[in-house]
Order: sequence, then structure tokens, then C-alpha cells
Amino acid sequence: PSRSDGARRQQAVNHVTDLPQLDALDASGTRVLVRSDLNVPLRDGAISDDLRIRAAVPTIERLLSAGARVAVGSHLGRPKGKWVEGLSLAPVRARLEELLDRPVTLAPDVAGDGARDACASDESVVLLENLRFEAGEESNDPEFAAALSDLADRYVDDAFGAAHRAHASIVGPPQHLPSAAGLLLEDEVEKLSKLLHGAEHPYVGILGGAKVSDKLAVIGNLLERVDALCIGGAMAFTLLAAQGKPVGRSLVERDRLDEVSEVLERANAREVAIHLPTDVMAADSPDQDAAHSTASLDDIGDRMGVDIGPDSARDFAAAIEGARTVLWNGPMGIFEIDDYAHGTIVVAEAVAKATKNGAYTVVGGGDSAAALRTLGMDGDVSHLSTGGGASLEFLEGKELPGVAALRRAKNAT
Ligand code: 3PG
Repeated sequence: PSRSDGARRQQAVNHVTDLPQLDALDASGTRVLVRSDLNVPLRDGAISDDLRIRAAVPTIERLLSAGARVAVGSHLGRPKGKWVEGLSLAPVRARLEELLDRPVTLAPDVAGDGARDACASDESVVLLENLRFEAGEESNDPEFAAALSDLADRYVDDAFGAAHRAHASIVGPPQHLPSAAGLLLEDEVEKLSKLLHGAEHPYVGILGGAKVSDKLAVIGNLLERVDALCIGGAMAFTLLAAQGKPVGRSLVERDRLDEVSEVLERANAREVAIHLPTDVMAADSPDQDAAHSTASLDDIGDRMGVDIGPDSARDFAAAIEGARTVLWNGPMGIFEIDDYAHGTIVVAEAVAKATKNGAYTVVGGGDSAAALRTLGMDGDVSHLSTGGGASLEFLEGKELPGVAALRRAKNAT
């Protein structure tokens, strides 16, 4: 298929206009089950980044002002069907209450008697316990989906970050209840769709993070669209190893070398410029107190790369600053450690500069979003996606199960 066939197909699959709209849901006087993605990072039991909770607020507020009562459901972490005290939504409840500036009641269970009583009450905002405390959530058990649906009269899916999971709370309720897309989900689909069709050129993709295996499919899809790809983070070392470059003891996925070589050949055939690090921050180990210094790849010895080096950062920044469209997913190094954060900071600054110059810039993935927020630069990009895996799968051109379920909802036209 040609580029335009692919683009047309994806336009049909991902376009936002055929999703049932929130404002068309007759919600007044009803209890609405809102599936949000409140899967926030926790450090010592405290929320270290509340982006997803803040992003969930507008839909809840819209429903409340339409005269509905809401029951918010979310997963947190991966408790695998068991009750794990440290993954209770209690800290999320407290933050949501602050942000909404009204009481939020945490139900004592997910869809049992406690949740039923809470949902039947006059409480305007009930938060269900962690959906993944129930094994039926991830196994997409129809009985669990029916029990969840029984808690409410309407359903709103606002969990863009989990839209790639065919889990009970995501694909079940639209079969039982009049349903709508939440404002966040709709906004994400709209903003990310702009990267799939009609993007202005030059279009530069920046990918980072640990594993190339997680990103091979998205790289394959991006090769059809972008003019250049800047690849940093540990994943770059598998590409460099496939090119026969020295990588020392850096993380390399040896079992992926053939696939990676094929990707590099395709990039070459499509004349997509692949920017890889030529220098790195080389360290004895990935720890804060390890001996470290910048080095060209040729001088990496038996050390490992923990960040892209200053020359590479300059090269990436030049490509980014000249772009009209930018997608960034994944940090350039171990940015949580100050001495290994330089590459990520330079890339963030270049993306902000491109935005200022009128480029359309999208940042996805928890780590790059967190990096931007730590730098106080989250307002300097066109769109900061709440989706990690979901945004990548969306950009692979897949129809996400959460989006598909809404399109097939009882009330969808
Ligand atoms: C995410 O953090 O990307 C989503 O909340 C999905 O979480 P999961 O990868 O545990 O399904």
C-alpha cells in the first residue's frame, strides 16, 4: 500500500468524530462510571507526578456540572488480581479531592457490596478501589464487566493511557451502558491523529528509553512518515551494535540485532536520516556514584553509555530545531541522575525551541513527560500525552481496544 492508502486507512480507524461525544450523553440525574487512567508513579507511597490525575479532572467536572454523580475507576500498578495494600487508590483519592475541591469517597472494594452501596448513595464522587485487585479486570471477564456496569447508568471512557488494554473496565461497559468518550481521551485521539496524517515536514521523531524491542513496531511505522529519527537512551546501543560500532558494556538486545539491521536498511531505502549517538556519557555502572566521563564511542572501552554525549546532543538539537513536526518518546539517558541528564535536557530545550518557532510538537511516555515537568517545561510543547504504551500503539497505526469499544458502544451511531 502507498503512503496515502495507509494514511486514509488510519484516518478512518483513529478519527475522533465517530466517537460518542460526552456532551451528547444524557447524564443528568444518573450515576456515571468514569474509567480514568490514574496510574501515577508513587515514591515511598507518595504521588511523584500527578499529571494523570489533573488530566482526569475536566471530564469529571463536566459530568458533575451536567447534574451527574460519578464513580471513577482506575488501575494502579500491576497487583495481578490480588489485594496489595501499597497499591490502594487511597493516595489518589486524597489528591483527586484536592484537585476537585469537593469530597471524594474511596469505596472499600472494586465492584462488591461496598462499591454498590457507595454508588447507590448521594455521594457525588466515588472512587472505586484499584480495578486490578480483581483478576477479572485483566482477564476481561464478562461477569466482572457486568458487575462494574451494574454500578452505574452511564459509562465514560477517559483512560487514554490504558486504551491499548482490552481489559474488562475498558471494553466491557460500552456493551452494557450508554457510553461516551471523555474529554481527555478525545483530545489525545485528536492531537495524536495529527501525527498520523497531514503532519508538516520536516518531521523528526526522537526515541529513547531502555529497550529497542518495545519500540521496533513504532520505528517501523514512523519510517513511513518521518524525515529523520534521533535515537538515544539505552535502545540506541542495539542499533549501534547492529552497525558494528563499539558499545562497551552498554545494554544491547542481542536477540534483536537482525530485526534492527532490517529497520536500518529500510530507513536507508526510504532516505530517512537516522541520528545515533557518536559520543556518550560513559560510566562504570548505571549508579550515581560510579566513575563517569564523556567519551567518543571509540573510547568507550568496557564502560557503559548512560546518556548521549555533548556532540550527539548538539546534532540531535540541530535536527529538532529545524523541524515542523516533532514526536518525542523516551529519555536520552538515566535523566533521574543529574550527571546523566544533559542529553535529555538539551533535547527538551530543542523541542521547546521548535514549538516556539511554530512546529507541532508532541511528547509521550511517562519518563519524557516527567523529565519535561521536572524541568518546568511541560507548557512548552504542543501536546503532552498521558499515554505511554497507548500513545506508541496508537502511532503504530493500531486501533486501540478502548477506542474500538466506544465506536461499537450500544448508543454509537
Ligand atoms: C501506563 O502506565 O502506560 C498505563 O497506565 C497502562 O499500564 P500497564 O502498562 O500496567 O497496563
